[in-house]
Amino acid sequence: MVAYDRLLGEGFVTGRVGAGTFVSDDLPGIDHRTGATGGVLRPRPVWDNLVQLVFERAAEFDFRPGIPDARLFPYQSWRRLLARGAHRGGRRHRLLRRPRRACRPREAIAGHIGVSWGVQAAADDIVVTNGTQQAVDVIARVLLAPGDQVAVEDPCYRPPWRLLATLGAKVAGVPVNDQGMIVDAIPPGTRLVYVTPSHQFPLGMSMSLPRRMALLAWAERHQAAILEDDYDSEFRFGGRPIEPLQTLDRAGRVVYIGSFSKTLLATLRLGFLVALPSLRPAVRAAKLLTDWHTPLPLQGPCPASSSRACSPVISARCARCTGHAMSRSLMP
Ligand SMILES: Cc1ncc(COP(=O)(O)O)c(C=O)c1O
Repeated sequence: MVAYDRLLGEGFVTGRVGAGTFVSDDLPGIDHRTGATGGVLRPRPVWDNLVQLVFERAAEFDFRPGIPDARLFPYQSWRRLLARGAHRGGRRHRLLRRPRRACRPREAIAGHIGVSWGVQAAADDIVVTNGTQQAVDVIARVLLAPGDQVAVEDPCYRPPWRLLATLGAKVAGVPVNDQGMIVDAIPPGTRLVYVTPSHQFPLGMSMSLPRRMALLAWAERHQAAILEDDYDSEFRFGGRPIEPLQTLDRAGRVVYIGSFSKTLLATLRLGFLVALPSLRPAVRAAKLLTDWHTPLPLQGPCPASSSRACSPVISARCARCTGHAMSRSLMP
């Protein structure tokens, strides 16, 4: 009976009461060869080289800098905080939410970056993202049109460069020297500059104060935006850091982005951006349209569960960083 019902439902047979069940006369022809060809759709040309670059063959020895040791991750605290969050949030988290409603993590992140890095931000300015990579994506969607000129440091952290190229931006590498990006070499017509001023990736120097001021003045003159990627500010071995561009900015042209990939684990995919008030509604809408929101249960244990500025998990990790700094200071 079930088989007959299914054949009837799919139109393969027809039935007339009292007459019986008959194979349908007008069965649609299905050409099974289409599936076998592997499809005829082609990606846009920009993907021709990128696919290979993105899935670069894993190196036998991994010398990439700044990858936290997963064995030192405080799994016990994390599990406890996750369980607590899941228990408390069980009912609250059953519906997709507008990101701005998940308030505590954003308050905690604002507190954390204010205390640790001197960044001026309130909870309302913070949008939690899936790593800095998504922060770049959201900002590019909001600020750039296809064909717009973007400048990145050369050498630089490649994933944002490639992402911006897939979104249709014209991306130019701008040389750096010991003071950071050479502002005079930024191509004319640039709409957005992506920089890592506190710790240039991969060369490691920080952008000097005069260079920061020159970049900010350039952005103001050319009505451009600056995307400040402060991905590993916690890893300081001494001395006071130079103020972030975001803090020095008086013209409202800097979007600050950060990541927990270096302090916690890159695989958690937790990052954030500090949205300028003028961009806030569009940034929130772009995040919502991209993926609704970063998983709320994951945001719970991040820096949120503590009333202190820094969560127990981040504190523990930072303590280890300090430990590394101390052992480094003992080295000859
Ligand atoms: C310059 C730079 N920015 C950001 C990140 C982290 O990116 P995400 O937060 O997407 O993991 C890294 C990681 O290596 C990096 O080198």
